Amino acid sequence: VFAHIVQAPEDPILGVTVAYNKDPSPIKLNLGVGAYRTEEGKPLVLNVVRKAEQILVNDRSRVKEYLPITGLGEFNKLSAKLIFGAESPAIRENRITTVQCLSGTGSLRVGGEFLARHYHQRTIYIPQPTWGNHIKVFQLAGLSVKYYRYYDPKTRGLDFQGMLEDLSSAPSGAIILLHACAHNPTGVDPTLEQWEQIRKLMRSKALLPFFDSAYQGFASGSLDGDAQPIRMFVSDGGECFAAQSYAKNMGLYGERVGALSIVCKSSDVASRVESQLKLVIRPMYSNPPVHGPSIVATVLKDRDLYNEWTLELKAMADRIISMRQQLFDALRARGTPGDWSHIIKQIGMFTFTGLNKEQVAFMTREYHIYMTSDGRISMAGLSSRTVPHLADAINAAVTR
Ligand code: LMR
Repeated sequence: VFAHIVQAPEDPILGVTVAYNKDPSPIKLNLGVGAYRTEEGKPLVLNVVRKAEQILVNDRSRVKEYLPITGLGEFNKLSAKLIFGAESPAIRENRITTVQCLSGTGSLRVGGEFLARHYHQRTIYIPQPTWGNHIKVFQLAGLSVKYYRYYDPKTRGLDFQGMLEDLSSAPSGAIILLHACAHNPTGVDPTLEQWEQIRKLMRSKALLPFFDSAYQGFASGSLDGDAQPIRMFVSDGGECFAAQSYAKNMGLYGERVGALSIVCKSSDVASRVESQLKLVIRPMYSNPPVHGPSIVATVLKDRDLYNEWTLELKAMADRIISMRQQLFDALRARGTPGDWSHIIKQIGMFTFTGLNKEQVAFMTREYHIYMTSDGRISMAGLSSRTVPHLADAINAAVTR
């Protein structure tokens, strides 16, 4: 009965790792998935995470009972504080419901399904380009997906005019997906002044902001700084959605730990919204896992661990920034044609190189360098040792 089933294509991002794993070459390099690597090219478990896990293991009172449908309460509270700020009036006024979800993806999906069931507008506008999974997540949640202009390939920067025009012509009430910081895949973010214009325009048209915050702490190295755009929207008193992930900033990729927050107009509305979120979650996966959020809560609630985390986070962000400089310098040293300054200007884990599909394929074939076909490279996967290899490959790709 399954003989008719055709082979599905690999995922455009996670499939890169599948191909990389199959390559026997000793010089292979995986710059596909956005996952942090050390200078030695190894995955990193943060010291604070090890410490938190030790604390959890030593606590014999801990059990393996089910969490509530909405997840670990303490984690939800701390997550809201982290993203909206400890002094946020919306938190004080109990206007936010926060539910633990399966990392950023799960938070987007739960938020999307809630909107498809209860919101009067079923259209979500996402930036062009965006993280490839956004499209599928929201379509399967029951929303219809449209694009707004975001990236200008000519300037390798923000198409701010195009973005404002497209938001202006979106129907009133439409949902707008915004990358809170470190836009994936382009590494191009609006300035705070531009965010303010975006906010004004969106509020004047009653457009609903849905922030995807996957890189808090990775863009500027500051947790508060990277949450600024979201806080601007929340401080005007309007509604706002935020999907939070701890995959990158706490290195908890495989623990699938994140949160969805919905900022409402009153605490009464927030509590009704939460009751409906439970109806979305319960038939989807019943309730979320307990280990990941326990690690996060342990770190966030302890001043010393929290401070240590911010230092480790800053060190990761700084290493990525130094990789940008090293790659830029290496291309300049090779006299590689073109303006590569976007490598140092772009923000976050990725560089959107501007290399085309053929050039990417060439680099994979000849240099065993793996990246997504849109020319995105994960700077976090690079090290001082591998920069020359990548620079040689880019140089060969653009001069062949
Ligand atoms: C990425 O864009 O590489 C990450 O967000 C990982 C993923 O799940 O795609």
